[in-house]
Amino acid sequence: MAPVQAQVLPPPPESGIVPEKIRDGIDLLINGEHYRHTGDPQMPLLWYLRDVLRLTGTKYAGGHGGSGADLVLLDGKAVSAIAQPLARLAGKAVVTVEGLAANDGSLHPLQQAFIDEDAIGCGYCTPGWLIAGVDLLRRKPHPGDDDIDQLPNLCRCGCQTRVRRAIKRAAAGKAGPR
Ligand code: FES
Repeated sequence: MAPVQAQVLPPPPESGIVPEKIRDGIDLLINGEHYRHTGDPQMPLLWYLRDVLRLTGTKYAGGHGGSGADLVLLDGKAVSAIAQPLARLAGKAVVTVEGLAANDGSLHPLQQAFIDEDAIGCGYCTPGWLIAGVDLLRRKPHPGDDDIDQLPNLCRCGCQTRVRRAIKRAAAGKAGPR
């Protein structure tokens, strides 16, 4: 029997289009932008934010997120970014401190209140306070000192008193308009 000849296909038209297979991955929604993560599904969100997306506002807060500096909003609720493997985040919305300002750059009222009350020292803890504060104001529009003191955040620069004032200032609507 004669050998089967391989079929010679004509060269593709010069469209400039390179076909690309869809890669499996985890679809993420971060600050309103869509991303697909195709690496280790157990990668903590904190490293993805800082090392992949270069969103470095969210800070390392210890291996268990104990000081609150790594808080992000997950479907509106403050959670530790180090404690969230990317595999858990498909279909959920993440907002980091970079996502609090409006698209036109105007600050969130709580960000403005932190400025108005000079509640920022070195700034390391500030993103976590802002995320925790936004979550608190959503749950309790007029929080008292006790509510604020129960947040997991720590400030090693001693800004707690001014942070309290800032959160209450935002609650009272005294911060600049968003
Ligand atoms: S401002 Fe420095 S740790 Fe809070």
